[in-house]
Amino acid sequence: MLKVEEQQPVEFSSALIAKCDEISSRYPQGKQKSALLPILHEVQAELGWLSSNAMDKVAAYLKIEPIEVYEVASFYSMYFLQPKGKYVLEVCRTGPCCLVGAEKLMEHMEQTLGVKEGEVTADGLFSWRGVECLAACGYGPVLQIGPEYTFYENLDNQKVDTLIEELRKK
Ligand code: FES
Repeated sequence: MLKVEEQQPVEFSSALIAKCDEISSRYPQGKQKSALLPILHEVQAELGWLSSNAMDKVAAYLKIEPIEVYEVASFYSMYFLQPKGKYVLEVCRTGPCCLVGAEKLMEHMEQTLGVKEGEVTADGLFSWRGVECLAACGYGPVLQIGPEYTFYENLDNQKVDTLIEELRKK
């Protein structure tokens, strides 16, 4: 069943539509479907995340089937299919990082932020989730923080708390 917020109508700003027009003009006539990835990034940047209504609108804009948008958006982890915080703390949960404490770090993060994986803090600042290998396996536990995808390595509970406090002050 769709969440309530997923059913809310979506409007694209004129600036977003202009950006989508510019992106799709980079591709040969009849190949506008190739603009799907960058357009999804622009839509997510404006709306914060990709609801099913937003994806349907992208499908209509590109004249493709909605399922073609869902398939792409659900494959790549940089697209968010549910609301996210301003800062998304993504902790590597793959084997080598788990061996050095990634799971305990996620438990700690859940307590510190007061939200479960995928939820957003009441102030809208934070969400967190486990992700697959971030390619820094010798420096675990590791996390990255969007939207800039800054890396933090050799983490422990105290370092994560400090990090969260610094982000709160920004
Ligand atoms: Fe964590 Fe590769 S296993 S970065």
